[in-house]
Amino acid sequence: MTGSRAADPPALEIRDLEVTFSGSRGGVPAVRGVDLVIRPGETLALLGESGSGKSVTARAIMGLLEGPGVDVRMSRAQVGGRDLLTQDPEQRRLLRGSVMTMVFQDALSALNPVLTIGDQIGELFRTHRGATRAQARKHAIDLLKLVGIPAAESRVRDYPHQFSGGMRQRILIAMAVALEPDLLIADEPTTALDVTVQAQILRLIDRLRRELGTAVLLITHDLGVAAEVADRVAVMYAGRIVETSAVEEIYDRPAHPYTEALLAAIPDLERPSEQLLAIPGAPPRPGTVGAGCAFEPRCSRSSSLCDRERPLLTVLPGSPHRAAACHHTQEVLDAGTG
Ligand SMILES: Nc1ncnc2c1ncn2[C@@H]1O[C@H](COP(=O)(O)OP(=O)(O)OP(=O)(O)O)[C@@H](O)[C@H]1O
Ligand SMILES: [Mg+2]
Repeated sequence: MTGSRAADPPALEIRDLEVTFSGSRGGVPAVRGVDLVIRPGETLALLGESGSGKSVTARAIMGLLEGPGVDVRMSRAQVGGRDLLTQDPEQRRLLRGSVMTMVFQDALSALNPVLTIGDQIGELFRTHRGATRAQARKHAIDLLKLVGIPAAESRVRDYPHQFSGGMRQRILIAMAVALEPDLLIADEPTTALDVTVQAQILRLIDRLRRELGTAVLLITHDLGVAAEVADRVAVMYAGRIVETSAVEEIYDRPAHPYTEALLAAIPDLERPSEQLLAIPGAPPRPGTVGAGCAFEPRCSRSSSLCDRERPLLTVLPGSPHRAAACHHTQEVLDAGTG
């Protein structure tokens, strides 16, 4: 972690996030009781298999999940010291794109095909900062340089389709950091790109985080990626966080059997392109989890207690910054000691 002190107010603080989609056969509980705290300049990687609730969590924080058919609740939601729960929809819309921004996997569909890159980036400065056309153009060129687009002065007049996938992702990142947000959420920002470009994009996000002090929520399936750039990791399973820890500790000595299984499924941590999540069985569909632990049916350490009673996310004795939701945490930790 760079340049951030524990005493600073968090860049993001979310408590008790619950997201329920209404379906024909009752509500689908996609996210349950999620807490997230990220400090300025810190990167938190949110990991978990497909369907675990990572994107829904991100979209709920961004306020992109409003409307009929979905119920979003939080007991606390602060971004950059601003209370999201007391903002009206128009205020929240203005925070999106300035105080909190999100980079999606698919850069092409996130950009407007009929506007030049310069106009799209410039628009941010015109809307949020009241910049003139000429000022906005200058900001756009500076940003293209910041994210490593060659010949920025001329490329600012080009349209999205004239850029490669990696360059488009850089442009999206430029737009995401344009107004120096407190929080940048990157949802699988590199999966559509080839391996070399993936590494470049991650390094870019990492550099901007350091230079601008932005907090980053990086969503990924890829434990290699997380190991490389994250300060802390939160592991999601079936809509809940099941383990959270500093990045070194979680890789050296996981505390939850699900994390243990995820790590065991990576062939080689040195090669971030590998993302083999071959844990036997499949995650439960939301709404099908019983009273016990959602991971119990796939867990090698399960006992009758796990079937009856859901383990709560609990701080590990002696490790105030680690927590796990498992009745058998001590066994898992002991297994990792050797
Ligand atoms: N609009 C929706 N209506 C109903 N259910 C939804 C909706 N969006 C997401 N879900 C459900 O919520 C759960 C979590 O989905 P989410 O997209 O957050 O998963 P994810 O962890 O991002 O997975 P992936 O790694 O594949 O992106 C899934 O079971 C999904 O089917
Ligand atoms: Mg997703």
